[in-house]
Amino acid sequence: MANIIDGKAISAAVRERIKNDTARLISRSGVTPGLAVVLVGDDPASKIYVRNKKKACEEVGFKSFEYVLPAETPEIVLLELIDTLNREPDVHGILVQLPLPEHIDEKTVIEAISPKKDVDAFHPVNVGKIMTGDYDFLPCTPAGVMELIKSTGTEVSGKKCVVVGRSNIVGKPMAMLLLHANGTVTMCHSRTKDLKKECLEADILVVATGRAKMITADMVKEGAVVIDVGMDRDENGKLCGDVDFKSVSKVAGYITPVPGGVGPMTIAMLMQNTYNAAKKTLMAN
Ligand code: GUN
Repeated sequence: MANIIDGKAISAAVRERIKNDTARLISRSGVTPGLAVVLVGDDPASKIYVRNKKKACEEVGFKSFEYVLPAETPEIVLLELIDTLNREPDVHGILVQLPLPEHIDEKTVIEAISPKKDVDAFHPVNVGKIMTGDYDFLPCTPAGVMELIKSTGTEVSGKKCVVVGRSNIVGKPMAMLLLHANGTVTMCHSRTKDLKKECLEADILVVATGRAKMITADMVKEGAVVIDVGMDRDENGKLCGDVDFKSVSKVAGYITPVPGGVGPMTIAMLMQNTYNAAKKTLMAN
């Protein structure tokens, strides 16, 4: 039976460290890290994410600024708000919750955010920096996954790592972080010829496809570290991941649950990025 990786506990420990660092930063410099979260429309899942981000900010001692705009907000109004936040000294991080309503171009919005405040690391400047390994911000979910792998005591260097899913937010940067940690990385996706064969070779398997329970026990090597980024619903409407936890936990060495695995880490890494952004403004002065 696999060891369960407790993302909630690991996230709490990271947030506790950030809370202490923040108290020290405030007392030494008078600067309080500030995160602006912008939500356009009323997508129920996005509303929950935004609420959790605000709560996490308060817990670690950050200022949080919330902007909830109606779904029909014109793109130009959102761009003007971003421009204001780019110039606002109390705001060190800006996060525009995705997805955006269809009439707003996601790429235009992401590119409007100052790369220095882009705590999601979605701006092309930050994406490019991740590629070269010279980064200011790590994308939150892949950075959280690296922390979870580290918590198992598994050395990535030299290991066969397989990433299933090639999204810009998770799969692509995930592969890059594993590569920077000297893993031998294979990326798999919907056109991969023999997914089972590829997955069976993985010492570290990271799955981010959005397809409920698609990774089954016969696809996993005995003792592998299995990280499930999925947040799906099963046939009964119950929350589940991309990995069939029940069967895979019998063969894996370590496995993340859903919920309580990767999810809580994403927010912890967002707090880390916001803290880093605030600290960096001091070094610039
Ligand atoms: N929507 C779902 N996940 C994310 C995320 O990590 N950042 C933003 N901005 N929107 C999201």
